[in-house]
Amino acid sequence: MLDDDIARVLITEEELRRRTRELGQQISRDYQGKDLHLICVLKGGVTFLVDLMREICIPHSIDFMATSSYGDATETSGVVRILKDLDLPIAGRNVLIVDDIIDSGLTIAYLRRILLERQPASLRICTLLNKKERRVVDVPLDYIGFDIPNEFVVGYGMDFRELYRNLRFVGVLKPELYRP
Ligand code: IMP
Ligand code: MG
Repeated sequence: MLDDDIARVLITEEELRRRTRELGQQISRDYQGKDLHLICVLKGGVTFLVDLMREICIPHSIDFMATSSYGDATETSGVVRILKDLDLPIAGRNVLIVDDIIDSGLTIAYLRRILLERQPASLRICTLLNKKERRVVDVPLDYIGFDIPNEFVVGYGMDFRELYRNLRFVGVLKPELYRP
């Protein structure tokens, strides 16, 4: 069982639902009357995006982008590559990036820089999780679901070696599973 690899549950399904609803309501208020465009960072952000967008009650469109991940490691190399670019232009639109977790901040800082070059009307960031302690570059986060401690988490879209994304909660993986 996948659950056997989890040391403990950090955020329950119910907590995720409640917080996602709050964020959706807040975003709906903040972008009322504006042309909102959500950009999901694949693959980890997918679960959060599909739940969040259904809590947003104003018209909006979505698009996807994929950057290189850690591969098999649990820490970023600092080198970011675009694996899949957006399908739609973003010039003049109010863009909100939807991500699963901000760790070092390197990926999102890079993404933010290249998307700003395309001249959106505005660009904000919404992340489900924030590992503050690990930040190496300063990035402005506009919407944060939860601040979490410095532990490797899986579930609700997030993976370790492509597994555990289907868990309904966010959990801490047993350390012996990823420490050499
Ligand atoms: P950063 O560039 O170090 O901020 O890493 C960002 C990306 O790494 C996130 O969007 C996740 O996809 C992945 N990541 C960072 N920490 C974790 C974790 O604890 N579990 C799963 N994926 C993570
Ligand atoms: Mg991600």
